[in-house]
Amino acid sequence: MRAHKVWFLALTPALLAACGETQQPALTPSYQPSASVHDFMYWMLEPAADVLWDSAGYIITEAGEQDLQPTTQEGWDHVRNSATVVAEAGNVLMMPGYRVDEQAWLEYAGGMISAGIAAREAAVAKDADALFTAGGHLYNACRACHNRYMPEPAFRVE
Ligand code: HEC
Repeated sequence: MRAHKVWFLALTPALLAACGETQQPALTPSYQPSASVHDFMYWMLEPAADVLWDSAGYIITEAGEQDLQPTTQEGWDHVRNSATVVAEAGNVLMMPGYRVDEQAWLEYAGGMISAGIAAREAAVAKDADALFTAGGHLYNACRACHNRYMPEPAFRVE
């Protein structure tokens, strides 16, 4: 009880000051892109996208057809987490320092955000078909941007 009261007293002047202020200075976020676009692709985006693509569909092995969808809660959680990285990577690509100042770039990055969110919803619902569809949309967003902006369009996603 006493601890609460002390906090309240300590915070009140700051709150009053914040409310009384009419002109707030504009915030200036200090973006610091940590990598080149190339390294960002290899180290952040592709590993996360690969988790999505490796978790949907079927492959043929010597033992027969193998369903790639996760079989454990942990597996689905891993897909959910990677889908979040993919979606946020779309935001990163719109950041000053990474982005190209053209509408098309922003649209391709936006397509990646939508596909990432759809993949995450599929992972949360453990819906293998929806994950497969989202993976297709994601692939299209990667390709569209590469076709236009990669210096040498030699897109490689195995
Ligand atoms: C908004 C545009 C954009 C999107 C979306 C995008 N990329 Fe890229 N990507 C680039 C550009 C530009 C380069 C070339 C960077 C360089 O070499 O300077 C690149 C390069 C790459 C490379 C390196 C290729 C090489 O041969 O050197 C990989 C791998 C890659 N991207 C993977 C992906 C994957 C996977 C996705 C989708 C999940 C994706 N990218 C989505 C713009 C994009």
